[in-house]
Amino acid sequence: MIDFDEKIDRRNTHSVKWDVMEAVYGVPAEDGLAMWVADMDFRPPQAVNDTLQAMIDHGVHGYYAPDTSYKNAVCGWMARRHGWQIEPEWILTTHGLVAAVALAVQAYTEADDGVILFTPVYHAFASMVRKNNRRVVEAELVVEDGRYIMDMEALEASLDGTEKMLILCSPHNPGGRVWQLEELRALALFCQKHDLILLSDEIHHDLVFAPHKHIMMALAAPEIADRLVTLVAASKTFNLAGGMTGAAVIADEALRARFEAARQAAGASPNRFGMMMTEAAYNHGDEWLEALLAYLEENRRIFDAGVNAIPGVRSMDLQSTYLAWVDFSGTGMEVDDIIARVQGKARIAANYGESFGTGGEKYLRFNLGCPRAMVEDAVERLQLAFADLQ
Ligand SMILES: Cc1ncc(COP(=O)(O)O)c(C=O)c1O
Repeated sequence: MIDFDEKIDRRNTHSVKWDVMEAVYGVPAEDGLAMWVADMDFRPPQAVNDTLQAMIDHGVHGYYAPDTSYKNAVCGWMARRHGWQIEPEWILTTHGLVAAVALAVQAYTEADDGVILFTPVYHAFASMVRKNNRRVVEAELVVEDGRYIMDMEALEASLDGTEKMLILCSPHNPGGRVWQLEELRALALFCQKHDLILLSDEIHHDLVFAPHKHIMMALAAPEIADRLVTLVAASKTFNLAGGMTGAAVIADEALRARFEAARQAAGASPNRFGMMMTEAAYNHGDEWLEALLAYLEENRRIFDAGVNAIPGVRSMDLQSTYLAWVDFSGTGMEVDDIIARVQGKARIAANYGESFGTGGEKYLRFNLGCPRAMVEDAVERLQLAFADLQ
């Protein structure tokens, strides 16, 4: 019923990942493997495409409202999958979550305020902070026992009082860390102590591998509801990123009013296609998601075994996400040399680690949300490109 092995040609379909690869990396799509942008090469649950088909059959694509059934679907998913009871009025829909980050920065901070990020982290966080004329305050994650941890003491020592917001990526991209209860609570109390708004981007929260379990920050630390903004979306989970639909969920009324004012000021209104796809996925996507997770887990296993066999190369043990985070520092090579081999010899487009901020310099990020045959091909190509190290 669900065939993740099917190779679907995405070339010439306005796919950023495939159709812009050559312009960005110099790797042509004819013989290259697109393993950068974080979307998957899979069709979504059938219910999503059935919904779109019904829209096409109807044929009229005007403005969208009301959003009651969409909000009920979001509430249902959060309760069912995450044990998180939310009210429909807490949901503020946005044009994707990068836009939500920008709106939060505008709503809760002023020009030149500091915004704390744990780096390396999803590059759009720093970009939204900077493009809104705020300052990025980097707190570098520490690798311990092969996984990232937050060094709260070092962060505390570095503060100068101009910081107004902290953006958490939970689970973390890149590296796939699923934060544990004590870590989430320590962070929440830190934000309380230093009077910081906590923006918790939980877009990857459905893509978690057993035995790891995602805990919503709202459940980990209910006492900070007056400073917590949670971001969620169906886009990563169900591969609907082109629908550009996400949500800020804010329980506190006063905090919500500030976000809503920024949203209104940006003139935002919902995208019909994104709303309808999200609703269908949340209502009918459970079984598809279970199958996807099993498939991704095997992709991850094959990829890690293959690249970890190259001396000096280490793929971080992903607790979540389909984004392998590979450390090349053990090869002793310069980054340019590593990139030349990955792009030039292996013909693979992977995200540069330095774009994720301090700590990412010697890494590359490979997207494993693709048919297994492509993962196997990538492993072979990488082993060949670094064959002289064997
Ligand atoms: C942590 C995180 N937030 C947001 C996004 C993208 O959000 P959107 O496409 O909804 O703007 C990504 C995409 O990779 C991400 O990893």
